[in-house]
Amino acid sequence: MKTFPENFLWGAAASAPQTEGGAFEGGKSASTWDKWFELEPERFNAEQGPSITSDVYHRYKEDILLMKDIGMNSYRTSIAWTRLLPDGKTLNQEAVTFYRKYFTAMIENGVEPIINLFHFDMPWWLMEKGGWEVRESVDHFAFYAKTAFEQFGDLVKKWTTFNEPIVHIECGYLSNFHYPCKHDFKLAVQVGYHTLMAHVYAVKEFRKAGIPDGKIGIILNISPAYPKSDSPEDLEAKERADHVNIYSFLDPAVLGVIPDKLIDLFERNELLPMVESYDRELIAENTVDFVGMNYYQPLRVKAAVDPRFPAKDRSDFYNGYIWPERRMNDYRGWEIYPEALYDVAMLMKEKYHNIPWYVSENGMGVAEEERFTDAKGQIKDDYRIDFVKEHLEQLHKGIEAGSQCFGYHMWTFVDCWSWLNGYRNRYGFYRVDIENDCKRTLKKSGAWYKQLIENNGC
Ligand code: BG6
Repeated sequence: MKTFPENFLWGAAASAPQTEGGAFEGGKSASTWDKWFELEPERFNAEQGPSITSDVYHRYKEDILLMKDIGMNSYRTSIAWTRLLPDGKTLNQEAVTFYRKYFTAMIENGVEPIINLFHFDMPWWLMEKGGWEVRESVDHFAFYAKTAFEQFGDLVKKWTTFNEPIVHIECGYLSNFHYPCKHDFKLAVQVGYHTLMAHVYAVKEFRKAGIPDGKIGIILNISPAYPKSDSPEDLEAKERADHVNIYSFLDPAVLGVIPDKLIDLFERNELLPMVESYDRELIAENTVDFVGMNYYQPLRVKAAVDPRFPAKDRSDFYNGYIWPERRMNDYRGWEIYPEALYDVAMLMKEKYHNIPWYVSENGMGVAEEERFTDAKGQIKDDYRIDFVKEHLEQLHKGIEAGSQCFGYHMWTFVDCWSWLNGYRNRYGFYRVDIENDCKRTLKKSGAWYKQLIENNGC
């Protein structure tokens, strides 16, 4: 049996916009997702929008008991900025009451809340001004972070600023998956830079708040790049991919510096963002206490074919390729490669002074899971159990080698709404029956996870 360290965090992750629902209840204002769905519902799978999702706004008590049932000792979700500060300035007391009850119920049931501030859910009032494109977004975010620390700092000890900041940049400014669906590399870099500064200002607010025993981190998605060959061109492609997708946030967050190689690459390609003279110092002063790593898939890269200069997209820095031996989760189109989790563990140990970190998301989205329901009504998701086992094996190897990983969170606890994919792919330990009042039913993987937690290993 592979035993994990004492007090290891076992749990799951989700986000406010994907679970809460109550989109226009309790004084909440519209997020960009709420508004986009109103404008273009046909872009969303089966026209499933964010207004109800898994109805956690009304069912959080019931859900927390279900977490307790499977022994989870921790859970990450986020606060909806649009609920706490509907106009960006005025504190919504109903939101304070809701989140205080929600977090208190977790604590009373032995589930430690890890609370994130931004999970792709830009308020619409700010998006109308340009969202992360404009520098004033940084100040708005800092005020939101300060407010959250003041209101909930007595209950929540582990905080994170952003979930996967690269995703709202690439999906909103390089591909067509998040509003505002622009394609502009230079703007994408500017959006990324403002996001980074918003993170830095939030960390600064956190230090000022002086929450006893409080720790702050950031959640990053990590897809380590694996080069097609050892040729200098393919190795350079790997370096560029890792710099753009990983080190761009991980280096400033943990080491307090933006890597020179990235600055040089952007400068040569006329992509440098507008900055303030004091930013560099602020980045250096406001590093994190821990990191959350969302790992789903690796990135296979080779040298770019016919790159444009200056670059117009990441494909001018590196190209993807299909690894002939790959295994796929075809429902999501993501490669399954558990070995990368060991490499991530070693990266954190060796490049990032062995900072404490945890697997903040890992999981497997599967469509039409009802196919696997047995006579007693339980979904037999053995594929998910195998997926987790294989990943935990690699993680365990990394911990044995000295990496300071303190937890493993699955995406997700109850099936949740997924952006443009709606409820197509399911990830949860509990099935959510959206046709039947969002009824929850334990899947086989949930029962298996309970055993795993009891044994602190598998
Ligand atoms: C992570 C995100 O990237 O992956 C989640 O933090 C997301 O918000 C999850 O839902 C699974 O991806 P998807 O696109 O299948 O929902």
